[in-house]
Amino acid sequence: MNLKEHIRVVPDFPQPGIRFKDITTLLNNGPVYKEVIDRLANHYRGQGIDLVAGPEARGFVIGAPLAYALGVGFVPIRKSGKLPGETIEAGYDLEYGKDKLAMHKDSIRPGQKVLIADDLLATGGTISTTINLIRQLGGDIVGAAFLIELTYLNGKDKLEGIDVLSLVQY
Ligand code: PRP
Repeated sequence: MNLKEHIRVVPDFPQPGIRFKDITTLLNNGPVYKEVIDRLANHYRGQGIDLVAGPEARGFVIGAPLAYALGVGFVPIRKSGKLPGETIEAGYDLEYGKDKLAMHKDSIRPGQKVLIADDLLATGGTISTTINLIRQLGGDIVGAAFLIELTYLNGKDKLEGIDVLSLVQY
């Protein structure tokens, strides 16, 4: 199955010059969405993963079903001000814009094996912040899984020492 055929590329969104990779067309197709989650789950099954962690919002769409498929818990990483419990926070730059991410302090116990999941690796800002937060909580990061990687933005360089898997590259 060619996953790229199911991703819609929208020119000049959300601002001129950005070729936005719209995964809603892929998510809209049940067998293709299932294929994405199955491929990721097959790659990571049997590695002793305790938790999948994914950043809001599109990271939930990949991370939560992946956690379900692996039979493990899911940790939501949210934008600042959304989580009700005690949190740790860190700021980051996006391909276009800036934001702050937060995690509940009690969402990961030291030594737990955590897989990071998101729809897209662009500059790597989101995921390097996620790595920083998970490490602050003592999590042992097994890898980072993406549906899409924009290789021309070299996001991988920011994720030194982390095993990166992406299903589709641009
Ligand atoms: C997008 C995407 C990734 C991130 C990738 O999320 O879902 O999380 O940007 O970019 P980066 O590698 O340059 O950090 P966004 O912050 O737009 O939020 P959304 O999922 O809520 O749309």
